[in-house]
Amino acid sequence: MSAIKAENLTRRFGKFTAVDAISFEVEQGEVFGFLGANGAGKTTAIRMLTGLLMPSGGDAWVAGRSVRANPRAIKQVIGYMSQRFSLYEELRVEENLDFFAGAYNLDRETSRRRKEEILEQFGLEGVRRRFTRSLPLGWKQRLALGSALLHHPRILFLDEPTGGVDPLARRTFWDTIHDLAAGGATVFVTTHYMDEAEYCHRISIMNKGEIVALGSPLELKRQYGKDTIQEVFVQLIKSTG
Ligand SMILES: Nc1ncnc2c1ncn2[C@@H]1O[C@H](COP(=O)(O)OP(=O)(O)OP(=O)(O)O)[C@@H](O)[C@H]1O
Ligand SMILES: [Mg+2]
Repeated sequence: MSAIKAENLTRRFGKFTAVDAISFEVEQGEVFGFLGANGAGKTTAIRMLTGLLMPSGGDAWVAGRSVRANPRAIKQVIGYMSQRFSLYEELRVEENLDFFAGAYNLDRETSRRRKEEILEQFGLEGVRRRFTRSLPLGWKQRLALGSALLHHPRILFLDEPTGGVDPLARRTFWDTIHDLAAGGATVFVTTHYMDEAEYCHRISIMNKGEIVALGSPLELKRQYGKDTIQEVFVQLIKSTG
């Protein structure tokens, strides 16, 4: 069974089609890059895949659960880092972890243990009492990822997790992504950084609601006769208007 499968997944807002009948599958343990220009429909697609937004047409299955029929069941098996981190700025670092542990219904002992594990894993022990709003962006990003991992999800949706983060922090973040995937997690990630696209097992490129290319970075570079995904991306977005 694929970790994620979309079949003609569609979302309209009034007469405007933000996501236009996209279909793809993501295997377990895969790092799948979801690329596209601003407004291509990436976040809208992620919101459907995470059970937050009802499709207008088609369907998708996440860990075998239909987003149309069973959106609530999906939230238990996934971790989601939204494009604007859902952290509470006015809470302390460890209070954010407590909050998300509560949201995932973890029992008291599990919450306590997972909080300590996440603080350690993401190097946040030294700032546990700091107010979240006072953290540099790269630290907030680690806290947001840690919060999304409290309940050991097998499938992760990361919507521009490295936007605005410095190159070193981005590299470290991608090491973490690959560690998670090596441990069997499936990672569905959007990015505008083309160096990050090269780190994905497979990528899809979206334009105006449609998937215009899909394959491994190497396959796509060969198919379009380019040396970098950056060049593939630019050509595709230009040629599809
Ligand atoms: N709730 C909504 N109502 C109306 N239009 C919407 C709504 N949400 C998104 N859209 C529109 O759908 C299109 C796709 O938006 P979406 O946020 O999915 O793009 P994106 O690929 O995530 O872009 P970005 O790279 O800038 O994050 C945009 O034109 C956006 O204005
Ligand atoms: Mg977006």
